Parts: sequence; structure tokens; C-alpha cells
Amino acid sequence: MTVPTITLNDNTSIPQLGFGVFQIPPEDTERLVSEALEAGYRHIDTAAIYRNEEGVGRAIAASGIPRDELYVTTKLWNRRHDDPEVALAESLERLGLDNVDLYLIHWPCPRQNRYVEAWRGLIGLREQGLTTSIGVSNFLPEHLDRLEMQTPVTPAVNQVELHPAFQPWKDIDAARVHGIRVQAWSPLGMGRNGLLDAPEVVDVAAAHGVSPAQAIIRWHLQNGVILFPKSAHPERIRENIDVFGFELTPDEMAAITSLDEGEAGRVGPHPNEFEPAPAGS
Ligand SMILES: NC(=O)c1ccc[n+]([C@@H]2O[C@H](COP(=O)([O-])OP(=O)(O)OC[C@H]3O[C@@H](n4cnc5c(N)ncnc54)[C@H](OP(=O)(O)O)[C@@H]3O)[C@@H](O)[C@H]2O)c1
Repeated sequence: MTVPTITLNDNTSIPQLGFGVFQIPPEDTERLVSEALEAGYRHIDTAAIYRNEEGVGRAIAASGIPRDELYVTTKLWNRRHDDPEVALAESLERLGLDNVDLYLIHWPCPRQNRYVEAWRGLIGLREQGLTTSIGVSNFLPEHLDRLEMQTPVTPAVNQVELHPAFQPWKDIDAARVHGIRVQAWSPLGMGRNGLLDAPEVVDVAAAHGVSPAQAIIRWHLQNGVILFPKSAHPERIRENIDVFGFELTPDEMAAITSLDEGEAGRVGPHPNEFEPAPAGS
């Protein structure tokens, strides 16, 4: 299984398709990440807040796969914007790794207003070699503009909600102009909103003898997007990487693109609304 790679603006490369572990319970993580590595995934997307970095690390250690053949992303949680250095050290300890390939600011939390300071911290972590690349997640153009104006480093990626029911192309294109690559979170729309049963998706899938999930994954790949669908089922984990033997036609791409519902299609929070809960809650 050869997954294509994408070159980032810092001249490193990332496998375009990976395995996401949001909502995988800690006790299942080692087993499911091991399944993913066995199936050929070499890119794992986790976060401190997923509370499953230990399981990711155990699966990596048990796999025997050389570290330089794996791509590991983790994320700085919202309450830790003032101490990314300690937060990353804790993540590395849990992962059992000396460094990660990509470290992201998970959410901008604009009311808290510490993301520029946090970004300066991430620049320092990259300089120390504790992460190879740095990026952001859930940043809107106004947040990216502040990083651009107030710091010397442009994020390598912005990881945002993106799936057929929610396609913020205007924001994505604004980031692409600055050389920032988009990563799609919830690429299958978390399996909600009937996306996997939509006739447009089902028809495209049937035309290629693949599943609706595979058709949507293919749509993302052909849009040049980096993605890491999550599944807690080994057969789906294998299915989701078996997407390199067919290609969608321009009409099929357009049929899936037509499912955009704008704001109504979101499955997650608006980036300007998601802030840490008040202390003590
Ligand atoms: N940066 C952020 O703020 C953020 C937010 C959300 C997610 N993420 C990242 O993005 C990754 C993916 O997003 P996600 O986990 O929210 O959702 P997703 O990958 O869009 O969808 C996962 C859902 O789809 C189902 N599914 C997966 N493969 C399937 C298949 N082949 N057929 C039918 N159903 C299938 C899964 O069910 P089963 O598990 O039961 O198979 C699960 O319910 C996360 O794991 C995480 O790494 C980042």
C-alpha cells in the first residue's frame, strides 16, 4: 500500500492519508493503532485531549516500524497555550517518543487570546527539534493573519472541519495562498447527517464497487487534502486505506461537492465559539 505524500511549506513531507484516534477509548487505542499500522497506515493523528497518546506510543513501539517511517501528530490543548514547552514534553513522555513530526495548536480560543504567544512557543519547540513541523487547527483567516503579521513563521498546516456537508473553501483558499496545507478533520462528517447514505455518494460508490466512505475519502484525496479518518472497526480501518485502485471522474467529484450545506453542515463547534471551560468546571 503506497500512500502519496504531500510536501509542506517547510520542505518536509507528510503521508496524505492517516489514521485519526479522536474518541478511541484509551483501552482500545494500542490494539486499533496496531491494526492501522498492520493495514499500512504510517501517519497517526492524536492530541493531548484525546487521552490516548500512551496507546498510540505502545502500538508504535510494538510495531518495530522504524521511527523515520512513521508520521505522528499531536496537539496543544486549549488550557496550555501559556506553556507549550511543558505540554509537549508531557505528550512526548506519554507517546514514548523523542519528538513528533507535527505539533498543532488545537483551537485558537480567541477570547482567551493567547494563541500568538503559543505560536511563538511552537516556533521555539521546532528550533529545539522536539517537533519537525508546526501548524494550527481550527484557525480562521483572521487568526492566521495575526500569526503572519506578528511572527516570522507561517504554519505548515491548518487542520479544519471539512467534509462534503461542510466545505469552507473560501477560508481554505485564503490559507493556501500563504502555502498552508489543509488537513480535513471529521472527513466523513463523523458518519453523521446521513452523509454515508446520501444518494450522490452511494451512486458514486456503486459505480466503482466501493463503499460510501471510500468514495468520500477519494473525493478528499483528489482535492489535494490531507485526511485521517477514524474507525474503531478493523475491517473499516482496512477499507479506509484501500482507496488507491480507483479514481473519481470530474462529474463524480462535482456530485459529492454538491452536498455542501454551509454552516448547517457543521458537526463540530465554530472556531470562535470554542473556548476552555472556566477554571474549576
Ligand atoms: N483538530 C480538531 O479539532 C479535530 C476535531 C475532530 C477530529 N479531528 C481528527 O480527525 C479525525 C477524524 O475525524 P472524526 O474521528 O471526528 O470523524 P470521521 O473520521 O469523519 O468519522 C468517524 C466516524 O465514521 C465512522 N466510519 C469510519 N469509517 C467508516 C466506514 N468505512 N464505513 C462506515 N462508517 C465509517 C466511524 O465509525 P466506527 O468508529 O464505529 O467505525 C465514526 O463514527 C479524528 O480522529 C481526529 O484525529 C480533529
